Amino acid sequence: MEQAIEISELNHRFGIPGIVKIVAGHGGLTKVEVTSSAAQGEMYLHGAHVTSWKPSEAEEVLFVSSQSHWNDSRPIRGGVPVCFPWFSNKADDPNAPMHGFARTKAWQLESIVQTGDAVTVSMFIESDDTTKKWWPADFRAVYRATFGPELILELDVVNTGKMSFQFEEALHTYFRVGNIETVQVSGLDGVDYLDKTDEKRKKTQKGAIAIVSETDRVYLNTGAVVDLEDPASGRKIAIAKENSMSTVVWNPWIQKAKAMSDFGDDEWPQMICIETCNVGNSEVELTPGHHHQMKALVRVSNLKPTV
Ligand code: BG6
Repeated sequence: MEQAIEISELNHRFGIPGIVKIVAGHGGLTKVEVTSSAAQGEMYLHGAHVTSWKPSEAEEVLFVSSQSHWNDSRPIRGGVPVCFPWFSNKADDPNAPMHGFARTKAWQLESIVQTGDAVTVSMFIESDDTTKKWWPADFRAVYRATFGPELILELDVVNTGKMSFQFEEALHTYFRVGNIETVQVSGLDGVDYLDKTDEKRKKTQKGAIAIVSETDRVYLNTGAVVDLEDPASGRKIAIAKENSMSTVVWNPWIQKAKAMSDFGDDEWPQMICIETCNVGNSEVELTPGHHHQMKALVRVSNLKPTV
């Protein structure tokens, strides 16, 4: 009942008739549904989690696991988890949540704006007792997702305190693919990476990436556009970025898929994560009063048939 009232108030404040509505989604979690002439999209307040983007006349671009948890204490498996303010395990605290607290925090709607045929949904969080339990910084983070012919994701972090702080961030985007075994990921030729499946050894990428086993790599010092070619679905996804100097490429493959309780055993061929990040040696230092904005821009096109 309480949630129904809250949803009705959110619709009153932020809904756009025929284009944006706020509804109860999976597990009763509140989500924003966008249906414009350019695209359909979905975004949960839980984790500010984008779970769907479907440009008109295209298939769904994002992967969400059929086994995902849908409750406010667990991250959603798929879509775009927002990893902040650390990535992976927190270096100085083994008990801290993996990939930071942002992906399991309740975000608040700030605005929903229609510009032409695109719709931008903005959500925010601010430091409070629950964030300070893990991380002492005073901050405000605004996350904007624009659903249009492109998917544009922007994470904007402001230092609202009196002390400088460092943070890591990742837009942990799960792309849906027709067959991981025929996918090619290009744009990272010659780039050094840390291989997390091989004790984080530093290696250098040679040519395009083909996924032939568990893949978990942090590509270093790269702002390059990454192209994901997926012949099985006949499409190419281009991921451009701004103010991001690392890229993570991840597929769990067979054994790790089986070990994850919120991921189907046979779902690994259907997805790949290409993550727009600032992690490790690219962590961000933010002085009081300053802000940092990282952006990912995703575009889909048809793959030209090979002759
Ligand atoms: C990737 C990491 O970004 O996320 C992997 O590089 C990790 O090491 C994966 O396994 C999934 O993390 P999680 O916490 O969502 O299971």
